[in-house]
Amino acid sequence: MGNGIAQVAACAGYDVVMVDIKDEYVEKGLGTIQFSLGKLVSKERMTQEDADSALARIVTGTDRSACSDCDLVVEAVPEILELKTSIFSELDGLCKPETILASNTSSISISTIAKATQRPDKVIGMHFMNPVPIMKLVEVINGEATSESTNAAVNEAAETMGKIALSCNDAPGFVSNRILCPMLNEAILTLQEGVAEPEAIDGIMKLGMNHPIGPLALTDLIGLDTVLHIMNVLHDGLGDDKYAPAPLLIQMVDEGKLGRKTGQGFYTY
Ligand SMILES: NC(=O)c1ccc[n+]([C@@H]2O[C@H](COP(=O)([O-])OP(=O)(O)OC[C@H]3O[C@@H](n4cnc5c(N)ncnc54)[C@H](O)[C@@H]3O)[C@@H](O)[C@H]2O)c1
Repeated sequence: MGNGIAQVAACAGYDVVMVDIKDEYVEKGLGTIQFSLGKLVSKERMTQEDADSALARIVTGTDRSACSDCDLVVEAVPEILELKTSIFSELDGLCKPETILASNTSSISISTIAKATQRPDKVIGMHFMNPVPIMKLVEVINGEATSESTNAAVNEAAETMGKIALSCNDAPGFVSNRILCPMLNEAILTLQEGVAEPEAIDGIMKLGMNHPIGPLALTDLIGLDTVLHIMNVLHDGLGDDKYAPAPLLIQMVDEGKLGRKTGQGFYTY
């Protein structure tokens, strides 16, 4: 998600700093951006010159202090509450006072993340969809303390990146994953109970409901670990057993079958 966000920001003309924890991860992210820009050029949706200048606007590294002068930081680390709060606390100390700190979290409370900083009015959810260069929506999540000016600035940035921003309040799963993930979980339960094979489950939802991708293939794309994190947030936050993660989902995550990113999920890649 991080490289996708860096790509759309650079293509919109912003100077971008892309940071990961290891050089090899930074290189992998940059490689994904190069591949994606190359595809846009070959489909004549972008000129080679524009792709080159977008790439030239991205500075990379492993030192988070490189973010200190940014106007907007979009965090996209794994969906683990303690990791997000520690990064936000660090960014709060590193960044200039006016910097807006946004999280691409799929489900973690923005108000809780904001409490790790001294600037809760400048903390907001900026939830891009996967794959970022293609999907139009940015779900903007206002925490309890998010100011109107922060919301307006993030809406403007999202629109500059060619996205449509829609705002909601902070609640477990926000709007998108409150509705989407229980459906993905139900598809996994349907598979677990032997109701149908993966291809049939996905085919029925694609052909019957006009979904562009089936729920099991979508779970593979999102990452089974991320879907499990979201189901746990919904289960804990809303306190209803209808959100309990499917045992097959828990088992596959334990086995390291996380979907596309590990080469094995409900399908093999
Ligand atoms: N996968 C999706 O479809 C999707 C969609 C929308 C939002 N999200 C959210 O985006 C976030 C990232 O998800 P992902 O699927 O890209 O995860 P991922 O595991 O593929 O990537 C996370 C990246 O963060 C890096 N990282 C870990 N600790 C870091 C640190 N301290 N500083 C900088 N980088 C660090 C990792 O090395 C890795 O490259 C999560 O919050 C997730 O919920 C995911």
